[in-house]
Amino acid sequence: MSEISTRDSESLPDHGHDAPDGVNPDDLARPLYEGPGALPAADIPHRPRRSDFDPKAARRAERQVAALFVFAMLMFIVFCVGYIAIDPLTAVYVPMFGEVGAQNFVLGLTLGLGVFCIGAGAIQWAKKLMPDVEVVQERHELKSTPHEDAEAAEQYERGKEESGFGQYRIIRRTLIGAVALLPIPAIILLRDLWTPKDGGFGPSPTELLSTTAWVEGMPIVTDGTYAKIRPEDIPVGGLVSALPEDIMEIQEEEHNLNARGKAAIILVRMEPDEIRAQQGDGWDYQGILAYSKICTHVGCPIALYEHRTHHLLCPCHQSTFDLADAGNVVFGPAARSMPQLPIGVNEEGFLVAKAPFAVPVGPSFWERG
Ligand code: FES
Repeated sequence: MSEISTRDSESLPDHGHDAPDGVNPDDLARPLYEGPGALPAADIPHRPRRSDFDPKAARRAERQVAALFVFAMLMFIVFCVGYIAIDPLTAVYVPMFGEVGAQNFVLGLTLGLGVFCIGAGAIQWAKKLMPDVEVVQERHELKSTPHEDAEAAEQYERGKEESGFGQYRIIRRTLIGAVALLPIPAIILLRDLWTPKDGGFGPSPTELLSTTAWVEGMPIVTDGTYAKIRPEDIPVGGLVSALPEDIMEIQEEEHNLNARGKAAIILVRMEPDEIRAQQGDGWDYQGILAYSKICTHVGCPIALYEHRTHHLLCPCHQSTFDLADAGNVVFGPAARSMPQLPIGVNEEGFLVAKAPFAVPVGPSFWERG
């Protein structure tokens, strides 16, 4: 059996005051609880606080604690009023935060302040008014005694006997079967990760993330007007945001915008001799290059293009890609190049994809095992 004290005398905080002349500091200590479970005082000299011997200081501390609790009450009332009275769509300008929802701001502020004041009041109460005498607590062995072990084993055997677990074999076996099958529903729920298609499982999440609507021969249309594009529509130095021609049908069929998000591309044109490298031989058409529009960092759409340097700048975290050099990253947190789409023209003279993207578009997290 060992004894521990909550603190030793050397580590006492320097918050004590000298007791008034002729007064024993230990006599100033507030009385400890003496009922069942009371802990004995440690043999450490008591360092009185001002509130221990100055009634004015004690009353001041009492008022401070009460004021904090009253302020917390007020905050909770303002919280309720704010919830009822403030239109959830109203915005306010808050320095450092900018434009924020007024209701959210008031709810967060009042709840935070209310909880803070309760905590601060409790700390103040403990530090200034509760007994601050060091106590000793005996630490018991955590290990069970042999007697307790034997008692637990006996109770287990008694439970087994009384329940008839050994006697009713059919119940025992069916219970084991039921418990064994218990995890299966959870495994079946993983099916939700697949997109059902024609009653089957459809493409896996990896397939969905790795493929886009671009296929061989797919005409390229401008984003917005959905007009097919001829090479002469794009001047040297120009940039066009584009999509695959059938994007609207895919979107309607899938009832979401994922296909559009993944397939968005940009077309840029430069002099053919300015192109230093590409992700595949002849993937440009007369100096027109097609790259995914989705940043490989965390997926922001990018269309900030500096035509003299051929740099594409992501506005989110400033990743910069050199489109004249196979879309390689020249700056910023993106970990891989911007995927390039091979393009050419069809017999009508419109720009088309010559093949799907060779690598997944967008953030690269799913590629990292
Ligand atoms: S999303 Fe483009 S740099 Fe972060």
